[in-house]
Formats: sequence, C-alpha cells, structure tokens
Amino acid sequence: MQAFPSGFRFGTATSATQVEGHCTTTDWHAFAKKGLVKNRDTPDVACDSWNRWREDVALQRGLGLNAARLSIEWGRVEPEPGIFDRTAIDRYREILGAHLDAGLRPMVTLHHFTLPAWMAERGGLLSADLPARMARFAVEMVRALGDLCREWITVNEPNVLAANAYILGLWPPGIRDPRSAVVAHHRLLEAHVAMYRALHESDTRGDLALGVAYHLRVTHPRDPRRRADRIAAQVFARVFNDSFANAVCTGDLLGPLDPLIGLFGAFRPSEAKGTQDFVGLNYYSRDLVTFDPRRAGELFIPRFVAEGAEVSDLGWEIYPDGLEAVLEEWSRRSGGLPVYVTENGVADAHDTHRPRFLVRHLGRVARAIANGVDVRGYYHWSLLDNFEWAEGYEPRFGLVEVDFRTQERKVRESGRLYARIAQAGAIDEETWGRLGD
Ligand code: FCB
Repeated sequence: MQAFPSGFRFGTATSATQVEGHCTTTDWHAFAKKGLVKNRDTPDVACDSWNRWREDVALQRGLGLNAARLSIEWGRVEPEPGIFDRTAIDRYREILGAHLDAGLRPMVTLHHFTLPAWMAERGGLLSADLPARMARFAVEMVRALGDLCREWITVNEPNVLAANAYILGLWPPGIRDPRSAVVAHHRLLEAHVAMYRALHESDTRGDLALGVAYHLRVTHPRDPRRRADRIAAQVFARVFNDSFANAVCTGDLLGPLDPLIGLFGAFRPSEAKGTQDFVGLNYYSRDLVTFDPRRAGELFIPRFVAEGAEVSDLGWEIYPDGLEAVLEEWSRRSGGLPVYVTENGVADAHDTHRPRFLVRHLGRVARAIANGVDVRGYYHWSLLDNFEWAEGYEPRFGLVEVDFRTQERKVRESGRLYARIAQAGAIDEETWGRLGD
C-alpha cells in the first residue's frame, strides 16, 4: 500500500482561459479569432465554466477531493488598464467560496499564460510595464479574495510561455525571435519578483504563501555515449528547463549572461533569490535531446521520444520516474521548501493510459515523501477536457470527459479511481498490484 500523510492535498488543476469561456478581452481571444488554433477552435465557450462553475465544484466534491488549483483571468477582471470589474471579481468570490464550502482548499494562479488585450497591445511580455502592471493586478486580487485563499501562484510555466510565444511562434503574439524569448522570460521573472514583493508587503496577516508553477521536464542525452548529446542535454536543461526556477532558488538565471541581460533594464536576476514560499512543479514528460547543427529552428537541440516508449495522444512520453527525480531535485535546490505537484496529467481521449499513469505517478510522489521530500499535495491536470491552447479541443486531459456540443460532463474510469485514492489517502494493494510499478 502506498499511503500519503494525513492532510495531503488531492486536487485537480485548471486555468481560466481553458475552461471558463465568455471573455473577449484577452490576447488569446484575438489570436484564436485569426484562426491560428488547430481546427480554428477558439476559447469562446470552452467548458462554459463561467456559467457552470457550481456543477464543476459539485463534481470535485463528488470525487471526494480536498483541494483545487484554478486561475483568474486577468483580462476579465481588469478589462481596461486600472479599471477593475467588480461583477467579475464578485463571481470569483462566489466560486472560491463554493470551493471552501465543498471542502476544497483553493490555490489560485494569477497569471496562467494569457494577457489582457490592452497589455498585449502595449507590447505584452516584452513591455517594460509588465512587472508593475502584474504586481498591481496581483495586489488587487489578493485584497479582494485573500480572505478565501492564502496560497497563490504568481506565474505559470514562464519557460513554456516564452518559448511557445517567441521561439516556436505557436502562441500569441506568434513571433519567432529567440532574442524576444529571452526578454520575455526575463520580464516574467521581474514580474514574479514584483508580485512576490508587493503581495508580501501588503499582507497584514503574514500567512500568505506564494510560489511559481514551474514546468520542469527531464532531459536526457539521446545517445549517452555521444559527448555532443550529453552537452546538449545539459544546455537544454540549464537554459530552457531550469533557468527560471534556478533564478528563484539562487539568483542566477543564465549564469555569465545575466549581466548582459541586465542591459534591458534595471532589474537583476539576483533579486529573484528566495522569492518563493513553496515550489510548484508541473511535470509531464521527458525529452531525449541531441546536438544537430542543421536544426537551427530548434536552436540546434532537437527533442525526441525514446524508442518504444508509451506515449500520450500528443506523443509525449509517459515517464513516471521523472516526477520523482524532479521532486527530489527541486526540494534540494530550493533548500527543502514545501513542494506541490501543481500539474501532472496525460492527453488520453479513451482513458486507456490515464489509470496507470495516475497510479504510477502518485506512487512516485509517495516514494519521494518516504524519502524525505516535503510534498504537500498533488493537483491532477485536469478536472475537465478543455481548451488545450494551440491544439484546441482535441487533446483530452480530463478526469471528466466533456461533450463540447452539449457541455455534458461524464466522470471517466480514471476519475473514479482518483476519487478512491483521494478518499482513502492511499493506493490500496489491489490497485497498486494491478496498475502500479
Ligand atoms: C501545461 C499548462 C496547462 C496545460 C497542460 C497540458 O503546460 O500549464 O495549461 O496546457 O500543460
């Protein structure tokens, strides 16, 4: 039996744009309108959770979960610079209140990839204004909602955002310019620090806990005997994977390059040191990488999936050992802070992989805890099938299936399995024997 400590949090994670619908004042709304998402999908309705939130809270309660991670749509609550929409904020108050009533402790993300349209028009992530604007929004939100939630994530997966927006050009503003990616990443770090400071300064109770949800992958050389591949793996990990998290742990973003990046403004990555109260880890997969001078578009480090590996519907390798590795590594690198698995899940329309995926990954969490890592909770991505950014509605990440024509929700077998584990606070022998390893 794999048992979890009492009070361990079992939850799901969602983000506003991916589930809420009915918000036209974001950069993603404009981007999708141009037909730039797969199948010309848009987040216009998504899971309609802006209207159906009671049903979604009831679903989570029905599963017997005790926690939930969700996000606030910045462009919805601040549709014009400095103008806050009280009706929208009141709706979030109702939503968070309903979570508490249902025994679901909320953790709220302030920035989950999307920007208000006005912020995008002013240069978005590249704008020197971003940190101050985000800090102001953050303070406003915690002032309005802080009695209902004490754990906040400042930014979600800054590395993924900078890369998809400015290297791969897949997300708004859809630009391919690595230099802009570096600026955006740096700006997000500055914004995180500004939010962290402003929130703690305005915290009169003194019990606010703040962190980042880092996207951390495991990177291995495709051919471990080839020196160039080993170096490629180190470079990829150092630059893409680790740099933001490392900056928050140590003050070092890109090492010797930090002083040069400092030319963009007064902010120095060293100011980021220690600006987290817990570590949020989003873990999905591992990459095998190689060095290939012909692949300039991928910055000479193309990524591969291990031969014969079990993969998700999106072709991502299912690699549970990686979760244990990142938990141990970032617990150590953060100096032993509490850790939450803020996301972990699998695109799997037919629920063929998810039950095993869930049990195996939770088993690694239990083992990390047994080995001394202070893991406090696990938030499965996701409660519902939802709008998966540039991939639209095709990938199915939900413990609960959504029929996007009728908005009907149907709990999958994996959802029932997660409910049993959460209610028992343990993976029982029979389940472990059947699905674990
Ligand atoms: C993560 C994102 C989340 C979702 C999952 C599948 O990178 O944080 O919004 O798209 O991947």
